[in-house]
Amino acid sequence: MSTEIRIPWALPSLREQERQALIEVYDSGWLTMGDNVRLFEQSLSERVGSPEAVAVSNGSIALELALQALGLQPGDEVILPALSYFASAAAISRRGGVPVFADVDAESLNLDPAGLEAACGRRTRGLLWIDYGGNPCPIGPLMDFAEAHGLFLLLDGAQSLGAACDGKSTLSQAPLSTTSFHMAKVMTTVEGGMLFAKDPEIAHLLRSLRNQGELPGQKYVHHHMGTNARMNDLQAAIGRMQVRQLDVIHAARARVAESYSRRLREAGILQLAAGSAGNRHGNFLLTVSVRERDAVALRLREVHGIETRVAYPRPLYEQPVYTSGDWPSRHLPCPVSERRCREILNLPLHAQLGEADLDRIVSALLQESRR
Ligand SMILES: Cc1ncc(COP(=O)(O)O)c(C=O)c1O
Repeated sequence: MSTEIRIPWALPSLREQERQALIEVYDSGWLTMGDNVRLFEQSLSERVGSPEAVAVSNGSIALELALQALGLQPGDEVILPALSYFASAAAISRRGGVPVFADVDAESLNLDPAGLEAACGRRTRGLLWIDYGGNPCPIGPLMDFAEAHGLFLLLDGAQSLGAACDGKSTLSQAPLSTTSFHMAKVMTTVEGGMLFAKDPEIAHLLRSLRNQGELPGQKYVHHHMGTNARMNDLQAAIGRMQVRQLDVIHAARARVAESYSRRLREAGILQLAAGSAGNRHGNFLLTVSVRERDAVALRLREVHGIETRVAYPRPLYEQPVYTSGDWPSRHLPCPVSERRCREILNLPLHAQLGEADLDRIVSALLQESRR
């Protein structure tokens, strides 16, 4: 039995404006990195409140370039949450570093600062964290810890657009942050990413690294070990239109998330990473905890046509690439991450969901989790 998916997990908010912008670039004859990329960087850096923005081809390469710009050396350790997307750890490993996985907080699902001291060793160089599902992770305790131990700070903000602490986008708070515009994200350029930097020299280096290590005006002279991580103007044209829509997208997702929370509370279903007073949630993921999660997810899909995700089904240190021992890593005991990985379910969340959809999703979830 397989029911057609009637409620997808994610849907991009793309309109006629994005289509028109694409056609204009297509017809202009200049398709690779150009004015649209520059204007996209400008509009999003203003929006986020970061002095510098550097667009790249995706959020994973953004992390690798960030670690290179921060001077990560082979064998250097970086502490990160055990509960994150693989790209957070892979960027460290691919740069020759050693990921050190630490546990997350049971409610926020963000890196738990209480575990940092135990994770920190002689070779520790940096701290990398995420805002799980758009739930802002307060930077204060991380900054204090990094300062005390001389570590760099890097926000993997792939899920952070819209998240704010103390009225400021989390993407503007760390010295260096990255984000992703993959199609499932809050705003999209189909694939794409951006780095936000406070230091203009770091931004200058990143611009060179994304373009084969060349410097402006010096074609085929390579000053740094760069790569091709350029965003193209087709992607950036979509991005520019998405930035203009961001308020509408955020408001629609916030309305859906609020409505979910009310229904979940009434149904007695535990919501995780739901945010805290005084902070603004980016509403990338809507996360609940359910028993028999895999069976529930299967029935939601097969019986009710409701698509869900599990972000993430196992702590990063349990990924085969790390358990094989081929790629060095360390981890502390992470009982919270291990438990939450068995329970977490991400419900559909996008701007097009109406009240009737939410009624259907929550009543199907209630029915299936009581079986
Ligand atoms: C936490 C995190 N980091 C990094 C990435 C990688 O971004 P991209 O898919 O644009 O390479 C993602 C994408 O889902 C993510 O969620």
